[in-house]
Amino acid sequence: MDYSRKIAERLWNQPDKGELESRREETYIDDIIQKDHIERRLLENLEGIETVFDGGAGCGRFSILLAKRGCRVTHFDISQPMIDKAKALAEAEGVADRITFARGALEDLSGYADGAFDMAVSFDAPVSYTYPNQERVVGELARIAKKRIMLSVSSRLGSLPYLANPIQKNQFILDGRSRDPFVKWLIANREKAVRDFTFDRRGAEKLLSDGLMGGEAEIAEYERGGTPWCITYTFMPDELEALLRRFGVKNIQMSGPGAYARTVPNEVLVKIMNDPRQKADFLAFCYRFDSDPHVCGMGKDNLFAMGDL
Ligand SMILES: C[S@@+](CC[C@H](N)C(=O)[O-])C[C@H]1O[C@@H](n2cnc3c(N)ncnc32)[C@H](O)[C@@H]1O
Repeated sequence: MDYSRKIAERLWNQPDKGELESRREETYIDDIIQKDHIERRLLENLEGIETVFDGGAGCGRFSILLAKRGCRVTHFDISQPMIDKAKALAEAEGVADRITFARGALEDLSGYADGAFDMAVSFDAPVSYTYPNQERVVGELARIAKKRIMLSVSSRLGSLPYLANPIQKNQFILDGRSRDPFVKWLIANREKAVRDFTFDRRGAEKLLSDGLMGGEAEIAEYERGGTPWCITYTFMPDELEALLRRFGVKNIQMSGPGAYARTVPNEVLVKIMNDPRQKADFLAFCYRFDSDPHVCGMGKDNLFAMGDL
């Protein structure tokens, strides 16, 4: 059962991880939309919140934002390169003294007391990387939160379109001339990805039924601790809602960041993003549309949930 933690430690401690992760919103439009959605949710729900636990806080996208808004934040992550990057960014923003940096795995939150923080958050899927411990991790996040919990996890319905679209990420490239190595790779491999693609109905049915990203051989290898990455567990909306309820969370609201943008072609998205007025209007409307609970399952990659304890 400890393999998720061991593999995550190996994967996320690669030295370039902090730098790459900190540049995502300069590189991909889906990341801009998703982070903007979470930021709005946070800023609208900070009343009475003084202390926050951010689990899998990465390079500080939200821990720094919360510290700038006056919260005391525990920035918790399995990766030292991520923590180092977050510390440097927090210092540059003048809020490092409001943040406690802690290295650890979400699989073990036993060091934190019940209700130790006003709010516990975990964004952009760290919970999904803890498979097969994801339910326990959600329970532990709810346990250490006194007033509120906010999560974004990998979305099963949102991930299924990837299996019919090998060039989905190309749709969200902000600048086709970017020097980012993965952007270069996506562009260079676009035609080959389409040429080599065949739709695998069995694979789609499998993801729909077990929620696990990865083929059977990969999952078996993962369970032996052998894969270089974690098998991601994707949640269905009703499943996540029921889980949160089981751990005492009330007034649950769910949303699907990216649902509105996912059918817009790249050329149009780039045009919108390069015009500040259209960009502001578009992001505000995405937030409205993506917050409708009826579209939450069709968020791109992430399923967002929040509720009160
Ligand atoms: C995609 S990043 C998200 C970072 C940040 N929450 C954000 O939204 O910008 C996922 C983060 O989760 C961390 N992580 C992955 N597995 C973890 C685990 N088992 N325990 C703690 N952190 C983990 C990684 O090191 C990485 O920083």
